Amino acid sequence: MDAGEPAATPGYTRGMARNRRLLIVYHSQSGSTEQMAEAVIAGARHPEVENVDVRVRQALEAGPEDLLWCDGFILGTPENFGYMSGAMKVFLDRSYYPCEGKVGGKPYALFIRAGNDGSGAVSSVRRILTGLAVREVQEPVMIVGEFDTSRLPELEELGLTLAAGLDAGVF
Ligand SMILES: Cc1cc2nc3c(=O)[nH]c(=O)nc-3n(C[C@H](O)[C@H](O)[C@H](O)COP(=O)(O)O)c2cc1C
Repeated sequence: MDAGEPAATPGYTRGMARNRRLLIVYHSQSGSTEQMAEAVIAGARHPEVENVDVRVRQALEAGPEDLLWCDGFILGTPENFGYMSGAMKVFLDRSYYPCEGKVGGKPYALFIRAGNDGSGAVSSVRRILTGLAVREVQEPVMIVGEFDTSRLPELEELGLTLAAGLDAGVF
């Protein structure tokens, strides 16, 4: 080891931290949550954010390995029958026990699409995530009613906030 080089620290190479990792998981049936997700992804991949790897998964493809991989995550779901979508529930059902006790403290945020409410989607996801002891670091971004594309910059901001926060070590 060269003189002055810091002692080996897990996760560090030559004193440089590895890239932080942001996971985005969403479900969309008729496409509006997907448009929201695309804006979140664009924000998370903003060129100013240099040291964050962004992984995007559809809820039905995502699993516990994704939650274990990330340093922070964003979930997006429509409200269906007063709850999160079934696909998002499948992801959380699959992930809960393998991740329990292993993801505590990770920062997260939500985005929600709903025809007329959205509160049931938010509360149902939060209830499960409370059990994983992860930390919600921003209020959910919700588009309720008519799909208003003028709100999409708020989604981009959400992705950027999480990615930049991870990059800067704020979370
Ligand atoms: C089966 C079903 C159930 C729904 N239940 C609710 C609901 O409980 N509350 C609500 O506000 N909107 C409800 N909606 C409206 C959806 O949230 C809305 O259509 C949303 O755009 C779907 O997102 P997507 O375009 O990404 O598929 C429901 C839609 C479907 C298809």
